[in-house]
Amino acid sequence: MSQVTEYSEKVMDHFRNPRNVGEIDDASGVGTVGNAKCGDIMRMYLDIDDQGIVRDAKFKTFGCGAAIATSSMATELVRGRTVEEALKVTNKAVMEALDGLPPVKVHCSLLAEQAIHAALWDYAEKNGIKIEGLKPPVNDIDETEEFYQTGG
Ligand code: FES
Repeated sequence: MSQVTEYSEKVMDHFRNPRNVGEIDDASGVGTVGNAKCGDIMRMYLDIDDQGIVRDAKFKTFGCGAAIATSSMATELVRGRTVEEALKVTNKAVMEALDGLPPVKVHCSLLAEQAIHAALWDYAEKNGIKIEGLKPPVNDIDETEEFYQTGG
């Protein structure tokens, strides 16, 4: 992937018209992560059926344009996938699907990957299962914190 210095058309599209914004009631897994440096926060909701297929994914992000675009793309990429496939939706995959991100915005895509992992971790814990290759979430945030209502 060549280095980009500006937002691609796809990034702008997902920033202006983010897909799957919102919450899922009784989600199978919810993950909230934040980046301490920029203060941006992302919450991912996954609805996973008995076969381990991600039926729905929604997100709420309090953050920059790239964080919104990467969360939007991340939800699109995990929908319809198995849990194992969803785990492979890395920040690189999200960036590629968005035709790249400027280097200073790469950490925003990392937040999307971490949010997926945190939601999968929550799902695994709730169901007492182990997902091969999944590590405990980093930058996990207290679920009771109502960040997006108090954020400026
Ligand atoms: Fe931090 Fe984008 S500037 S997530």
